[in-house]
Amino acid sequence: MTVPATMRALRQHSLRGPQDMSLITDAPVPRPGPGEVLIRVAAAGINFADLSKSHGTFRDGPQPPYTAGFEAAGEVVALGESVVGPALGARVVGIGDGAFADYMPLPAAAAVPVPDGWTSQQALGLLVNLPTALAALKLGGLAAGQTVLIHAAAGATGQAATILAKHYGATVIGTASPGKHATVLGLGADHVLDSRATDLAVQVKRLTGGTGVDLVLESAGGSTFEHSLAAAKRVTGRVVVFGLAGGEASITNRDLVYKHQIQLIGLNIGVLIDAAPQLFGEIMGDLFALIAAGVLKPGVSTAYDLADGPKALAELEARATVGKLALLPHPDAL
Ligand SMILES: NC(=O)c1ccc[n+]([C@@H]2O[C@H](COP(=O)([O-])OP(=O)(O)OC[C@H]3O[C@@H](n4cnc5c(N)ncnc54)[C@H](OP(=O)(O)O)[C@@H]3O)[C@@H](O)[C@H]2O)c1
Repeated sequence: MTVPATMRALRQHSLRGPQDMSLITDAPVPRPGPGEVLIRVAAAGINFADLSKSHGTFRDGPQPPYTAGFEAAGEVVALGESVVGPALGARVVGIGDGAFADYMPLPAAAAVPVPDGWTSQQALGLLVNLPTALAALKLGGLAAGQTVLIHAAAGATGQAATILAKHYGATVIGTASPGKHATVLGLGADHVLDSRATDLAVQVKRLTGGTGVDLVLESAGGSTFEHSLAAAKRVTGRVVVFGLAGGEASITNRDLVYKHQIQLIGLNIGVLIDAAPQLFGEIMGDLFALIAAGVLKPGVSTAYDLADGPKALAELEARATVGKLALLPHPDAL
């Protein structure tokens, strides 16, 4: 396949959010560096981290101007130096810089084959939402018969966590904006609560006979964080913190001693990949076994044209979306 010299790309021009992201049509097509492959992007995944980056709140995030997006799936069309695989023509999903574009370089060693029978679009989430959800459940020590509170349960990561937690035999209490409750219950959640309620912890206590939950998957932050701490079982309850969609929140050593006697665990999937590669390997192995067993089905996402990326991000920010969001630069290549 001939690779052109220029391409379309969504360029972030400031740190004022997706309003300052726009399509350019003359971006140079990146050349794959040593150990990299170049893919023709069939589908790019939108993540909450794309919003944080556009606002400059992502740790060590890119400085504008930059090509947005970091998750994509598509066909390998060029190989950098010393790449032994994947081969030209293979369909892979991976993480790198500049996914919201026609072409994107990916580290070859971390590019994962699109599962047999899946489209590229269906493979989105395989390296971000699914491993984050499974890592949160594993680090949180979820066991069959336990109860887990999952925030943003209708979102991309929350849906994956809900499906996995039910598979592992847990009782799931999801939270979501009211218009998304049917989606959460449809995934198998046992209960769903309004994520905007001001008495969330009280409602969770009511559902758990006054004791609270064994595990909280805490990605909401802001004022919800305090509810998450209060909703966890005293002494044995765990709170895995992996997102701050609603903003920063704090807890002090005094709180842990006198107010919230719970177990707090931080999770960042990028750091887990670097610092605990063996655990990441186990997580990916488990995910592929669950795919083979039919527990995890091909991913479903809402698709947008590449040019509509800023609109999709604005909807994500407004809490108006359900599930995974995808940009399709080359729908013909799915
Ligand atoms: N640490 C990691 O490695 C890692 C990896 C992946 C994702 N994450 C985190 O996991 C969370 C979910 O990510 P995602 O990409 O799957 O997004 P998502 O869940 O599809 O969308 C975010 C959802 O968060 C909920 N939310 C709660 N408070 C919010 C607020 N103040 N502003 C906006 N949304 C709010 C909204 O759901 P409702 O309106 O239904 O409540 C919204 O739809 C994010 O916090 C993200 O940063 C972390």
